[in-house]
Amino acid sequence: MKTAFTDLVGIEYPLVGFNRSPGVVAEVSRAGALGVLAATAYRPEELDAQLTWIEEQIGGRPYGVDLLIPAQLADGDAADLVASLRAQIPDEHIQFVERLMAAYGVPPRQHHDAYVAAVNTNPSIVSELLDVAFSHRISLIASALGTPPAYLVERAKEAGVTVAALVGKRSHAERQLAAGVDLLIAQGTEAGGHTGTIATMILTPEIVDAAGEVPVLAAGGIASGRQMAAALALGAAGVWCGSVWLASDEDIAPAPIKAKFLVATSSDTLRSTTRTGKPARQLRSAWHEEWEKPGAPKPLPMPLQSLLVQPAWNRIDEAAEAGHEGALELESYFVGQVVGSFARLRPAAEITRALVEECRVRLGELGRLAES
Ligand SMILES: Cc1cc2nc3c(=O)[nH]c(=O)nc-3n(C[C@H](O)[C@H](O)[C@H](O)COP(=O)(O)O)c2cc1C
Repeated sequence: MKTAFTDLVGIEYPLVGFNRSPGVVAEVSRAGALGVLAATAYRPEELDAQLTWIEEQIGGRPYGVDLLIPAQLADGDAADLVASLRAQIPDEHIQFVERLMAAYGVPPRQHHDAYVAAVNTNPSIVSELLDVAFSHRISLIASALGTPPAYLVERAKEAGVTVAALVGKRSHAERQLAAGVDLLIAQGTEAGGHTGTIATMILTPEIVDAAGEVPVLAAGGIASGRQMAAALALGAAGVWCGSVWLASDEDIAPAPIKAKFLVATSSDTLRSTTRTGKPARQLRSAWHEEWEKPGAPKPLPMPLQSLLVQPAWNRIDEAAEAGHEGALELESYFVGQVVGSFARLRPAAEITRALVEECRVRLGELGRLAES
């Protein structure tokens, strides 16, 4: 299945598997597609170990990383940065989250870890993460939010690494193209994680038209070969899938979240700013009902909201794994509307093969339809 995208990164199938679990990334790349590691939540030394492990699993096959990259890098002590950010969180918000934990009886964490993933949006840590990423043989680097800064584009071009960027509307795509990206990902509102308001069906052809020679992948709402074929029909050079891997054996999400996903319907997600400060699609739970109640504070901007709520999510995840009822009610995670199609957990390699094979069959049927 050769497209401009498979040629660009040197893979067999025009399919990206985006996930934070090294096991998923390795299996997707081994199966002939492109695994991309969501690296924002890792410490630099963890990322180094993950990328080394992935490379050992995949031989010479290509893979990529995805980071939240700020416009400017900064030197400075990460702990100082976190402390100065924490000082900006209003008391009202801290007390609201504490009351929420108490109302659901969520116990304090047993295993403490002072490090909070949200700090990785901070310039000093991203700088270290970028150094780690470029010290490995990555084929692609994706910038999740905003335009990739010139320092990144230059570094990637020198290293022969493809620069990719996610876009949710045409004006984003124009800015990304001006910044010099090699690949656009048109991500529709159906998607899990940070997402805009335009559906993949509308967005993909718009971005394809704006992109000219630059290849475009479609993202958001693609979890089957039929959906993959539809994306190719819209002019995409491939697909970028995130949610579908959450239903894989290798995904590292806590078991209670995976169990909730398996019974969820496509109506059970919402876009909410309560987790990161920017609208992100996630599974609806009691957590969101509490933030929607009269008197609840307004979520803070990024990265303050993540700093505020991440310790609570660590508590919820830990208690939910221990079967705590209140924590199970609150439990949630980023996921797209395709969650309604999850039937069972499967190996990531099987998911990859099923997507490609069903897409191939569907494209063949459509070809015959055109001739009939
Ligand atoms: C659990 C989860 C976490 C995500 N985190 C990020 C992220 O850190 N960076 C990013 O570029 N996209 C992130 N996304 C969005 C994915 O890259 C992808 O665009 C999206 O999942 C595609 O839509 P789908 O969920 O319908 O497959 C995330 C998606 C999910 C489901």
